[in-house]
Amino acid sequence: MAVQLAPSILAADFLNLAAGVETVNRHADIFHLDVMDGILVPNLSFGFPVVDAIAKKAEKPLDVHLMIVKPWNYFQRFAKSGAAMISFHLEAARLDGRDPSELLREIKALGCKAGLAINPDIPVEDLFPYLQEADFILIMSVFAGFGGQKFIPESLDRIATLKAELVRRGLKDCKIEVDGGVGTANAAALVKAGAEILVAGSSVFGAEDPASACKALRQL
Ligand code: DX5
Ligand code: ZN
Repeated sequence: MAVQLAPSILAADFLNLAAGVETVNRHADIFHLDVMDGILVPNLSFGFPVVDAIAKKAEKPLDVHLMIVKPWNYFQRFAKSGAAMISFHLEAARLDGRDPSELLREIKALGCKAGLAINPDIPVEDLFPYLQEADFILIMSVFAGFGGQKFIPESLDRIATLKAELVRRGLKDCKIEVDGGVGTANAAALVKAGAEILVAGSSVFGAEDPASACKALRQL
């Protein structure tokens, strides 16, 4: 199956980040890195020092999920950190009246895959005008800001709707990434609905054995 597993480092043990990095290098596909500013979302996470440190040891691509206002100010800096994928929120573009298509092109011009993210309260149809420019769409299946929240079941229908539109428009290279409350209980259904990248924080790093948790999620 083409599904990729992207453990969210937000849920890793920050006193032993090397172990978290090792887990992803050995047992997963992508490093999902959540950058929060306390403005777009009601939480702060980490920034360049942590991302740069992970980049030095990462053997898998870095996926930087920007939950910040004015994300365009940092595209270049995260590309320099080694990000292979950068996503920003449609909500952040709207706050400043910026054109999401143009921002996606800015990311791609830096040599990174460009992603557009939305929270669960934004109609999935609002993404449609920008699908052409996106390498991936990040569907939040919890409200962005915190790890360990409960999966919102309506996310399955949202993913199926988005997938149908991508198919209808022949955009087979645009991947759907799902983020929030993902675990073995819903991973198979998410993949069936059309998700190709599964972000998993607490279900991987909160598990007694993160390596087995990765294996279980990938075997679905
Ligand atoms: C939440 C972040 C997620 C989070 C997922 O705003 O975008 O990536 O770390 O964590 P879990 O898998 O625990 O919901
Ligand atoms: Zn995330």
